[in-house]
Amino acid sequence: LGNGLASTPQMGWSSWNHFGCSIDEEMIRETADALVSTGLYKHGYKYVNIDDCWAELSRDDEGKLVPKKSTFPSGMKALADYVHSKGLKLGIYSDAGYLTCSKKMPGSLGFEELDAKTFAEWGIDYLKYDNCNTDGSKPTARYPVMTRALMKAGRPIFFSLCEWGDLHPALWGSTVGNSWRTTNDIADNWDSMISRADENEVYAEYARPGGWNDPDMLEIGNGGMTKDEYIIHFSLWAISKAPLIIGNDVRNTSKETMEIIANKEVIAVNQDKLGIQAKKVRMEGNLEVWAGPLSGYRVALLLLNRGPDRTPMTGYWDDIGIPPSSTVIARDLWKHKTLKESFVGNLTETVDPHSCKMYILKPIA
Ligand code: GLA
Repeated sequence: LGNGLASTPQMGWSSWNHFGCSIDEEMIRETADALVSTGLYKHGYKYVNIDDCWAELSRDDEGKLVPKKSTFPSGMKALADYVHSKGLKLGIYSDAGYLTCSKKMPGSLGFEELDAKTFAEWGIDYLKYDNCNTDGSKPTARYPVMTRALMKAGRPIFFSLCEWGDLHPALWGSTVGNSWRTTNDIADNWDSMISRADENEVYAEYARPGGWNDPDMLEIGNGGMTKDEYIIHFSLWAISKAPLIIGNDVRNTSKETMEIIANKEVIAVNQDKLGIQAKKVRMEGNLEVWAGPLSGYRVALLLLNRGPDRTPMTGYWDDIGIPPSSTVIARDLWKHKTLKESFVGNLTETVDPHSCKMYILKPIA
């Protein structure tokens, strides 16, 4: 969407994956504090996104949404001021239907202009817009109404489409929003995570600066996968130019989780200015090579072992768009080491079960 936002995939945090509907303003403020004290905001995590369940079920006399009095007593303007005072941005959630997915608060269908104006008045910077409890009309009829309302609201608001329905949002999302979901909801386990990455990959051609494919938010730190699996999760999202929206309790981020979500070199692949989503370039059973171009004629390469055995894997220049005779320097983004030798034609490394290796390849001759 040409609103000047999303030149690279959005980065931030959302309440949904860890907290669901158990949210309140104190936890949101503490999360903002924690994004600063952990240093995560310096790595680019700047959106603090309140997901479903923040509003009263009834609108006020003027038809406006009302923050839940028991959990958000200070209101959203005060919360936005607080979040902004930390150098962060505040995101909120609504739905292109009568009720949100939790059915605990109203949706914006029929109230798009009023809600967009209200969000702008509050100082909201990001809207995630869901697709539950609708009137049955197509999302392509309902979502652009909110796009226009946001455009008129007088404040740049990042527009995240949460619609993965039958209509393949990748095919129409780029003129409507800044990102669009390509999958159903993620859960904190290997099968769910890896299948979201697969489903998202087929839409690679549609991602570009201004609008990104969204295979849903990150589960790293929520406890359902091994460290190596979480490293795969982060590597795949990064190389796929997916939004990096962390979903853990940032107030209690472990060292292990920090090592993953604060990996500067992997984040730099995600935020590369070229904005080209990587693809699977070779699949042999459980062994997959993913690759995509980066700025400066470099290439991001992921050797992904989805199987149970430790196995050597090869990235061939032929597969990844480097001239076959080129000499290449390889940087290992998880070991934070530049490999001593240079490579011609291919790179072979052994990869542990349910693990990956990720490199930036830079041709030098
Ligand atoms: C849908 C979305 C989730 C979350 C919930 C909230 O399922 O896909 O990301 O926002 O609604 O109810």
